[in-house]
Amino acid sequence: MRTNLTAVALAASAGPLLAGQLNLPDPLTTTNGLSVTSAQMWRQTRRPEILELFRTHVYGRAPLGRPTNLKFDVWESAPGVMDGAATRKQVRISYQGPGGEGRINLVLFVPTKGRPAPCFLLICNRGATNLDPTRVVKTEFWPAERLIARGYAAAAFLNADVDPDFPDGFTNGVHGIFDAPGQKRAPDAWGTLAAWAWGASRVMDYLVTDTDIDAERVALIGHSRGGKTALWAGAEDERFAFVVSNDSGCGGAALARRRAPRAETIAAINQRFPHWFCENYHRYNNREDELPVDQHMLAALIAPRLLCIGSASEDWWADPEGEFLAGREASRVYQLLGVEGLKAEEWPPPESPRHDGRIGYHLRSGKHGLTEYDWERYLDFADRHLRRAAHGARNHPTAGSSEQRDNSD
Ligand code: GCU
Repeated sequence: MRTNLTAVALAASAGPLLAGQLNLPDPLTTTNGLSVTSAQMWRQTRRPEILELFRTHVYGRAPLGRPTNLKFDVWESAPGVMDGAATRKQVRISYQGPGGEGRINLVLFVPTKGRPAPCFLLICNRGATNLDPTRVVKTEFWPAERLIARGYAAAAFLNADVDPDFPDGFTNGVHGIFDAPGQKRAPDAWGTLAAWAWGASRVMDYLVTDTDIDAERVALIGHSRGGKTALWAGAEDERFAFVVSNDSGCGGAALARRRAPRAETIAAINQRFPHWFCENYHRYNNREDELPVDQHMLAALIAPRLLCIGSASEDWWADPEGEFLAGREASRVYQLLGVEGLKAEEWPPPESPRHDGRIGYHLRSGKHGLTEYDWERYLDFADRHLRRAAHGARNHPTAGSSEQRDNSD
């Protein structure tokens, strides 16, 4: 089956054919049917249009950006941790709305040498033990010591700080704080993934104020439901210079229209996790072809910034090949913007990362998970594409023209 799907995709790789075979909507044709032929047209017309389509039909619309009363309390700054290699900071990020106060607890390690440092911000969806500030508990889900050793700041927050991960009628977390009480929810009101993405942006609001961090080189990384969130946050918030989707699957990097055998579908995800997406998304249960977007267009919203997609060979539920294809299809937008996206036509074998362009992809042998192997690949990609962008406007969201000048990768 894998071969057949690859063959279908490959036959189609020239562009229109794949769109034909999988019936993918074209990121480079506007809703009115116009071809998007310039970076300016992408920027001014098509990108905002796609963003709106995802807000309306998939993730829902956040009712606010940065709250006016957002506060940062750096309640700990401890130099000399990790045998002198890092400073640990703990920051309480708080905000208030009509429904009360919310808090995100940020754990941050910054390297002692090499500041301001590039940073990886992890959306941690696997509980507090994975972000132990004391480092008594160390897990491969968040290898903070390794990040520091490679010259990156390591930042992490718990998704549950922003919004709990169960269907609660949207009364808890940020929904309860900011949504108008007692009113019927709009069909495009934000779901829980959009709430977590909103939280990642509030952490970014802090990171840009921290002089130990190079705010132009912040990577946002998430695994699985956290990977879906990272992609949406990166689409909504262009301050993230690099987005990492690890095994994000359905509603993340994987193409919904593939309906690959053993892979999660829109109907399956909406049934098990009715709170993740907006109500409108439920209309597409078993009707993927009617969705005006597919997930390659989400990847395209990251352009021309850096994007890494990581998959695992036995992670059928996340449709690893569908994740690859989304990256490949998004590349047309990168090319329009004058840079290379994913430089691979065929789904690569395991342990053969494709890191040449500004969209990186790797397939790891094994099951669903965020492992040491995955992290090392993302760090390699960052070394190659993010670190050398130091002090440049190159990764800056508004830096379209410099992106076009520097076409070296
Ligand atoms: C479930 C869910 C996936 C999700 C995963 C996770 O398997 O169906 O969509 O990615 O949980 O977040 O671990």
